[in-house]
Amino acid sequence: MNPEDKKRIAAEAAIDYVKPDSIIGVGTGSTVNYFIDSLAAKMGGQVKAAVSSSEASSERLRGHGIRVVDLNEIGKLDLYVDGADESNAQLQLIKGGGGALTREKIVAAASDQFVCIADDSKLVDVLGAFPLPVEVIPMARELVAGALRALGGDPRLRDGIITDNGNQILDLHGLEISDALDLETRINQIAGVVCVGLFAHRPADVLILGTDDGVRICHPAA
Ligand code: 5RP
Repeated sequence: MNPEDKKRIAAEAAIDYVKPDSIIGVGTGSTVNYFIDSLAAKMGGQVKAAVSSSEASSERLRGHGIRVVDLNEIGKLDLYVDGADESNAQLQLIKGGGGALTREKIVAAASDQFVCIADDSKLVDVLGAFPLPVEVIPMARELVAGALRALGGDPRLRDGIITDNGNQILDLHGLEISDALDLETRINQIAGVVCVGLFAHRPADVLILGTDDGVRICHPAA
């Protein structure tokens, strides 16, 4: 099965987690695009509204006639569905390949259940082969880059990208992340960091993988 079909079947399987008449959190990326399309096709008018993690997803949701609401109006969500760039067996994630990490982390934090959808190439033994995105306030970029180098990584500016929040992204190369909780805490403490795309303190609750043999549902390893 090709990678696109694997993303699609994972996204379609996530529809089982959506309750009729609910407001759901929706992430960003090519896998989530399949989810949004499937949500519209299978549940259409039954979804009350969505809280979106990016302008791109908001536009796609609205294009299907799904209302997009502000998180401040809702407070808490039952369900968040989003993709990932990498997951380990504990369902700690690297996210932000699409640049939406900050709003994704906010919506994940507001949600009781986080269902992650991906093709099976995203499941790894050790996080870090995918460069770790860090959203930074532009005036602090070099300050943050220096602090990230001190942690052993090689930060590189994502050229020509301004996030939905008006910030820049440093992609941190060359790390083998053995203690994701500790690294997330350390990077969060650097002045000028808006958000790091490491989802260890709030990992996914369920990972739905598209594989050659169909869908595989994973829960966090003990
Ligand atoms: C966007 C993300 C995406 O979820 C991640 O990049 C995966 O994207 P895709 O589904 O296109 O592989 O974190 O910021």
